[in-house]
Amino acid sequence: MNFKEAILQGIPNILPQKKEYPKDANRAPKRKDILTKEEKKLALQNALRYFPKEWHKELAVEFAQELNEFGRIYMYRFIPEYKMYARPIEEYPAKSKQAAAIMLMIQNNLNPAVAQHPNELITYGGNGAVFQNWAQYLLTMKYLATMTDEQTLNMYSGHPMGLFPSSKDSPRVVVTNGMMIPNYSKPDDWEKFNALGVTQYGQMTAGSYMYIGPQGIVHGTTITVMNAFRKILDSSETTAGKVFLTAGLGGMSGAQPKAGNIAGCITVCAEINPKAARKRYEQGWVDVLIEDIDELVSRVKSGQKNKEIISIAFIGNIVNVWEKFDKENIYVHVGSDQTSLHNPWSGGYYPVDVSFEESNRMIKEAPDEFKKKVQESLRRHAASINNHTAKGTYFFDYGNAFLLEASRAGADIMAENGIDFRYSSYVQDILGPMCFDYGFGPFRWVCTSGKPEDLDITDNIAMTVLQEIMENSPEEIQLQMNDNITWIREAKTNKLVVGSQARILYADAEGRAKIAKAFNDAVAEGKIGPVVLGRDHHDVSGTDSPYRETSNIYDGSKFTADMAIQNVIGDSFRGATWVSIHNGGGVGWGEVTNGGFGMLLDGTPEAEARLKNMLFYDVNNGIARRSWARNKEALFAIKREMERSPNLKVTLPNLVNEKLLEDLY
Ligand SMILES: NC(=O)c1ccc[n+]([C@@H]2O[C@H](COP(=O)([O-])OP(=O)(O)OC[C@H]3O[C@@H](n4cnc5c(N)ncnc54)[C@H](O)[C@@H]3O)[C@@H](O)[C@H]2O)c1
Repeated sequence: MNFKEAILQGIPNILPQKKEYPKDANRAPKRKDILTKEEKKLALQNALRYFPKEWHKELAVEFAQELNEFGRIYMYRFIPEYKMYARPIEEYPAKSKQAAAIMLMIQNNLNPAVAQHPNELITYGGNGAVFQNWAQYLLTMKYLATMTDEQTLNMYSGHPMGLFPSSKDSPRVVVTNGMMIPNYSKPDDWEKFNALGVTQYGQMTAGSYMYIGPQGIVHGTTITVMNAFRKILDSSETTAGKVFLTAGLGGMSGAQPKAGNIAGCITVCAEINPKAARKRYEQGWVDVLIEDIDELVSRVKSGQKNKEIISIAFIGNIVNVWEKFDKENIYVHVGSDQTSLHNPWSGGYYPVDVSFEESNRMIKEAPDEFKKKVQESLRRHAASINNHTAKGTYFFDYGNAFLLEASRAGADIMAENGIDFRYSSYVQDILGPMCFDYGFGPFRWVCTSGKPEDLDITDNIAMTVLQEIMENSPEEIQLQMNDNITWIREAKTNKLVVGSQARILYADAEGRAKIAKAFNDAVAEGKIGPVVLGRDHHDVSGTDSPYRETSNIYDGSKFTADMAIQNVIGDSFRGATWVSIHNGGGVGWGEVTNGGFGMLLDGTPEAEARLKNMLFYDVNNGIARRSWARNKEALFAIKREMERSPNLKVTLPNLVNEKLLEDLY
């Protein structure tokens, strides 16, 4: 059976043979055994409803085993035989080109070179799922292959509920992930309802099919690290030979060494999982791999002396590195952390002085004891960081819930007022005021032909557009424009592509729309194949997350989620090809609401109308909210946009003299 036939078949007609688990695969951590006996029966019933009755006897035993051993039912037996990667768009069986583009993006998210735990359908972040099980994948691909441009596929947390009649202008797919009744959004609710097979954690770009490998995060991390150094160095000083210490070489965190190299410093990145560290090393994302901590110390000291630009992966626990560097008096200029603390109890954070294997055992067999170890470790972790910051290190929270979880663990991490954290998040200090409030965010595109030449052409188009905009852009955004032009000029040399031919580029509303229009023209002229546009959810408008994307909203509204919901609804009727809205993503289940979109540019005038309408709204919705929250940069940006766009009328805040209030209370 060829690829097209296999896709069109969906769930196979004949029960496939049971499969051996691939030896070298990076397996998802075993999940907590949380279901009661009755709930386990329910989980099995839920899983078996995908299959004909005759198979139930055999599959029930196997699925019960999966549930028992891994805490979830992945249905490994149904992993397709064909290779998983983003094929050129014309290789997909499809009646709708838009649906074919979505199939391509789904396969990219599950490509073993891209995905963290491909056999468990996890793209990144330890639990960022595209689907809950392989039956959902098979059914979804079949629906996409057979749907027309007058239907919409509804995705309920990985489960394809079905095709519903709609219209050409509607999204082809509407995705919801982990949408819960608010009172059922505690971490254990995810464990339970995910084990039951009725919800999933879609992270951001995992469950929305918009992940483009670690490149997506390299750009944001580069901007962050560069500006973190700018905060503490004189303009005459260079970053060479200065240390950036952090942790994690997983899906997203794996971008840190590359970003550090682009920013021009010494990056030390601790990673407890040898497989994850080696994968990044083999992919060329980190320069050196070190296993011995004394060797690490001497390598860093020589790097400092010789003012080197180098990235080092240390296989071990980050807490040991902070403590050792403190003892050895290694000066750390910039510090952060990207362990998966949004998911602290089931493998996101490995406690110090417990081996990787032992931790994995404890997660399953002794979860309460494991939780204690994690919290002890966080207290030590924070204490050591405090020693460094006392010497001058600039530490920022990189949106992984480090400060939040450390505070919950009772670490000495609170500011004197007892309300704020002692350290800022990267959004409060850097990305919020410098990027999001002006509308700059992680715009991205994928060349569906799969040809590197197409990507080169789009890089050049984007650079030319940005250079043109830069000529007339105001002083306030010159630095951002400049950094982004440098980024796109060097993007190819930095070899960022893993998986599909994709590119990320921070751009504002004007930049995104102009670049997209130029791409659509190039498609129409036959210079390149169709292009998928999208963005990370981690953006101006898509995400309400009080400890991350909206941490620089200070009017009390950062605990609301109206912006993200408005955004996904607004994008859906303004021309998105698919939209998604998720609970969780980044900082954890229940802690954030985030959404995104995908849009196919096929060179038609309809695509041009859609991109203009939707991209404008997608960015300006967020700037409007940020300006209403009195953010200075957003006020500047939205007033400028209203001058350019007479149809845009946004409510502006009147600023109050604070003295007036002080006199009252
Ligand atoms: N700020 C942002 O823009 C942004 C973007 C993406 C992800 N994140 C957040 O960053 C975190 C990491 O994301 P990811 O996709 O890389 O997750 P991941 O799970 O793929 O990687 C985290 C890595 O940290 C390692 N690790 C855990 N505890 C450790 C310890 N004590 N010492 C050394 N290594 C340890 C794990 O083995 C894992 O490989 C997540 O919480 C995610 O939500 C932030």
